[in-house]
Amino acid sequence: MPATGIRRGWTGAGPGTLARVKRIALLGATGSIGRQAIEVIRADPELELVAAASRSTAIDGLAPLTQTGGDLTELLDRAEPDVVLNAVVGFAGLAPTMWALEHGVSLALANKESLVAAGELALRARERGGGDLVPVDSEHSALFQCARLGEPESVVLTASGGPFRGRTRDELADVTPEEALAHPTWSMGPKITIDSATLANKGLEVIEAHFLFGLDYDRIEVVIHPTSIVHGLARFRDGAAIAHLGNPDMRVPISYALTYPDRAPLPVPPLELGTLEFHEPDADTFRMLPLARLAGERGGTYPCAYNAANEVAVQAFLERRIGFLELPALVEDVLGRVDGAPARDLAELVEADRRARSLVPVA
Ligand SMILES: NC(=O)c1ccc[n+]([C@@H]2O[C@H](COP(=O)([O-])OP(=O)(O)OC[C@H]3O[C@@H](n4cnc5c(N)ncnc54)[C@H](OP(=O)(O)O)[C@@H]3O)[C@@H](O)[C@H]2O)c1
Repeated sequence: MPATGIRRGWTGAGPGTLARVKRIALLGATGSIGRQAIEVIRADPELELVAAASRSTAIDGLAPLTQTGGDLTELLDRAEPDVVLNAVVGFAGLAPTMWALEHGVSLALANKESLVAAGELALRARERGGGDLVPVDSEHSALFQCARLGEPESVVLTASGGPFRGRTRDELADVTPEEALAHPTWSMGPKITIDSATLANKGLEVIEAHFLFGLDYDRIEVVIHPTSIVHGLARFRDGAAIAHLGNPDMRVPISYALTYPDRAPLPVPPLELGTLEFHEPDADTFRMLPLARLAGERGGTYPCAYNAANEVAVQAFLERRIGFLELPALVEDVLGRVDGAPARDLAELVEADRRARSLVPVA
């Protein structure tokens, strides 16, 4: 079982009270979520960073245990954390997600790709492990909090619409990576920023919501909400609809996931109320959204294939090897060529991911 640190400090119950310090392992420490998580952890005396990992950026001295590259599950074995914050980008986050779920260690999940790809395997691992799975994605954090008030019948995910909201297909043909990287409301890593521009991010989030909240796809709606103030809305059987509002600031869902089931103070400005706008997404122009639904509804390893093909296509777009409109075309092509057979274990899932990647002609 993971060790739990006990530290004497101020806990809100008065000076000198014994506080239970949560030992955090932060994977993806140098990224956008990782850096904000460090800020949150350093400001909270009840959180302690015991391990940190990156892919290639040096992080010596950041935590008692650090690792750049290498096997993330070996680091977790050594660190024995209370909470794993998985802020790695892409399918590379699969192994630590499964490690936390199997071991019953609380998982603060930013790495949506692992849940999308692993789906049922991840849910079964969580059932065996019995630990908490708290989403860091702001929309899912919002819905997770709404769902504590009752079982939602359906949910609404909001999307800013990204930098190209309102554009036609013709206007998207020649957009550059620089234009796609200029997100209007969130400052994030490059992969998720491109995913936001194509609406693949919302597509991944629809699948993520399906697995997190056990809802059929026709009960997961997406609306465009340009200011990203309403993060999510849950509808209940008595007709009530409960929404979660906040400034777009990822420190809020990061802190919630790390301190769950408590809520820690954060130095964020109070929300000022203004006009809230909602529109239908343009699914004909932003094809990655309906393609995600298609993959989700087909089930099996189709979501894994969607994610894999998207990761390869995003990289190719960032490297200017393909145009913006080729992204959904490539993903659609891969979805038409894989068999989508359900993965019985992780080895089969990894093979489904590899196969989908190999089918993208720009890989
Ligand atoms: N950014 C946001 O606001 C936001 C919001 C919601 C959800 N998310 C999700 O959170 C995840 C991280 O996003 P991000 O924007 O923070 O990405 P990012 O800025 O690109 O950072 C990615 C991090 O992952 C590390 N990494 C990548 N592959 C790794 C590997 N094999 N082993 C260890 N570390 C690895 C990178 O290390 P190096 O620096 O060494 O490359 C970096 O620290 C994504 O799944 C994203 O969808 C992000």
